[in-house]
Amino acid sequence: MERRRRVLVVGSGGREHAIALRLLESESVGEVLVAPGNAGTATDAPGLPTGKLLRSVAGGTLEIAQREMVDLVVVGPEAPLVGGVVDELEAAGIPAFGPSRAAARLEGSKAFMKAFAARHGLPTARHRVVTDPGAVDAAVRAFAEPPVVKADGLCAGKGVVVAGTHEEAIVVATAMLTGEAFGAAGERVILEERLVGQEASVHVITDGERFVVLPPAQDHKRVGEGDQGPNTGGMGAYAPAPLVTEAIAARIERSIVVPTLEGMREEGTPFRGVLYAGLMITESGAPLLLEYNVRFGDPETQVLMSTIDGDLGEALAGAAQRSLSPDAIRPASKHALVVVLAASGYPGSPRTGDEIHGLEVAAALPDVQVFHAGTRRVEGRVLTAGGRILGVTASGATLRAARDAAYRGVGAIQFAGAHHRRDIGRRALEK
Ligand code: AMP
Ligand code: GLY
Repeated sequence: MERRRRVLVVGSGGREHAIALRLLESESVGEVLVAPGNAGTATDAPGLPTGKLLRSVAGGTLEIAQREMVDLVVVGPEAPLVGGVVDELEAAGIPAFGPSRAAARLEGSKAFMKAFAARHGLPTARHRVVTDPGAVDAAVRAFAEPPVVKADGLCAGKGVVVAGTHEEAIVVATAMLTGEAFGAAGERVILEERLVGQEASVHVITDGERFVVLPPAQDHKRVGEGDQGPNTGGMGAYAPAPLVTEAIAARIERSIVVPTLEGMREEGTPFRGVLYAGLMITESGAPLLLEYNVRFGDPETQVLMSTIDGDLGEALAGAAQRSLSPDAIRPASKHALVVVLAASGYPGSPRTGDEIHGLEVAAALPDVQVFHAGTRRVEGRVLTAGGRILGVTASGATLRAARDAAYRGVGAIQFAGAHHRRDIGRRALEK
C-alpha cells in the first residue's frame, strides 16, 4: 500500500478506544479519528507509535468520512448499524466495516434471529413469539419451566429478563407488549426456554464468505461479585476462555458459524463485519446460540485486541471490501483480562463529573493499558461522564499474570464513588 490508511472509528466507549489503539499498531494504518470518542481518544495516547495520529472528531459519520477523506470506517455500536449507516457509506463509495441494515437484523430483531436459526438448523433455545397481550398467559404457561422473556428490538442490553416464576414472566411480557417497558422495541416479545450452562462469547470477523475466529472470551454481566445484582453492559472480561476447548471451538464453527454465514448469503443478505455469538455451553460441551450481536462486544474487545497478532487494519479493510485474507490476523499466545471501573449509581443513573486520578501511574505499570469509556477532558483534568468509566486491561503469559497486573492497575486509579468487581476471571482460575 502506497499510503497508510486513515480510519474513522464510530463510537465513544472502551471498545472504540481499544480498537483505535490496536489499529494504530497496524503497519497499514497511519491515523485514526474517533467520533465522538472520549478523553482517551481526545489527545495523543501515551506510548503511541511514532508517526501515528489519534484524535476525536465531532459530526455525522458520512459527513466526517467525506470531509476527512477516510479510507475506512469502523462502526462500533449496534444502533447505527441497525439504522443502515454501512449502506449509506457504501452508497457514497466509502469502505465500511460492519453489516448492512438487512444483515444487522440478526441483532436488531430477536424474532428475526430466532426464525433465521430455525430456517438454518442452528442449535438454540425453543421459543415462541407473542404480539397480543391477551395471549401472554397461555403462551407463558405452555412452558414447563418459567421462560426467559425478551423484547424483540434493541434495548441497550436491558431487554432480557430471566424470570424466576411463570407469574413474573407474565408481568414482564405484558409490560413489554403494552409499550410500558421499552416502547416500540417491545411490540413483539420472545419467550424462550431457559438454558443452563456457562456463557462464552465468540467473535468472527468476516467478509461474508471468508472468516477469522477470534479467541473465545467470557464477559461478566452482573454488577456484583459472584454474578449477583442487576445486569450491566459488562463489568469485566478475559480471553481466551478455557471453557471453550479446541473440540468445542470446532463444534461452534461447524454448527453455528458456518451455517450462519452460508444462510445469510443464501438469503441474499451476506453478513460482513464482526459477528458476535453469545453462547451457552452445556455441561456436555454442546454450544447453543443465545443471541447474536452484529458488532464487537464491550468489554470483550478490550481483551481481544491484545490476544490477536497481525495487522488489524488490513483485516477490517479486507472484510469491508470482500477480500479478507484469513491469515491477516491470528490468535496470539497471550492472555488478557479487563476490569471495568464504573461510576457511583451504575447500572442505574450514574453520577458524573468526578475527577479521575492515577491514570498515568496505572498506564506506566508493566503490561497494563487503560481504556477510557465514559470520560471527558476538561482543562487538563479527566472527569467521569457516564456509567462505565474505564477498562483497566492487562495481558500476560498466563490468565493469572494478566489478572494480577490488571488489578494492580485498578489499585492505582481513584475517583469518588468508583466500583468494580474483584472476581473477574475467578471462575476460570479456580478450575
Ligand atoms: P441477551 O441480551 O440475549 O444476551 O441476554 C442477556 C443475558 O440473558 C444472556 O447473557 C444470558 O445470561 C441470559 N439469557 C438469555 N437467553 C437465555 C436463555 N435462553 N437461557 C438462559 N439465560 C439466557
Ligand atoms: N459485553 C456484552 C456486549 O457487548 O453485548
